[in-house]
Amino acid sequence: MSFQIAIDGPAGAGKSTIARAVAARLQYVYVDTGAMYRAMGLYMDDRGIDASKREKVEEAAAGVHISISYQAGEQQVFLNGENVTGRVRTEKAGMLASAVSVHPGVRKKLVQLQQELGRSQNVVMDGRDIGTAVLPKAQLKIFLTASVKTRARRRFLELQQKGQSADLREIEKDIEQRDYQDTHRAASPLTQAEDAVRLDSSDLTIEEVTEKILELCRERNFI
Ligand code: DC
Repeated sequence: MSFQIAIDGPAGAGKSTIARAVAARLQYVYVDTGAMYRAMGLYMDDRGIDASKREKVEEAAAGVHISISYQAGEQQVFLNGENVTGRVRTEKAGMLASAVSVHPGVRKKLVQLQQELGRSQNVVMDGRDIGTAVLPKAQLKIFLTASVKTRARRRFLELQQKGQSADLREIEKDIEQRDYQDTHRAASPLTQAEDAVRLDSSDLTIEEVTEKILELCRERNFI
């Protein structure tokens, strides 16, 4: 039996940083599901397909092959054979992902891939619907949140560090828009699973959140 830890929450709550840290401590595999939706969004954009058009997107999605491998423990995303790990990490790819992720045909395809990854190995998987739809039997479910202001500030600092220009107000608006899209879509909207533990990371450091999750693992006898 594999151990599964599901981490869900809105954009910018710190899911990927925390999930990566927890996976490293437990020697589990970290699965970043957002990267798969981002790859799907890029595919549509590369072909000039409007990400909001369900029929066109679902038809095109049939020809998309997304796969995952690991290099030195880091997830690599392949889109029809091309490594797009670097390309998926832009604001634009995030917005495209949010738009394509509303379509049930897209979700079905990617959820299948995610479930296969969670069946064969111990995983920490992050996303929006992991505890509710992808791994409903996960032994530990975390719903990680933070205020919009905190999330925007983190993103702003991250972009500044990379030397990219950024506007705090714009980022706040983007986050609000993505929150709205992610929580209001019909197919698997972002919601807290009934049995998830809610953690607000607004006033906690990465280490503090990681430690809290490891404590929950200890209580459940994972470690
Ligand atoms: O976590 P992220 O920012 O990389 O996710 C990008 C978008 O993909 C997000 O706005 C919603 C969508 N997504 C989803 O619908 N379900 C997931 N499990 C992961 C991401």
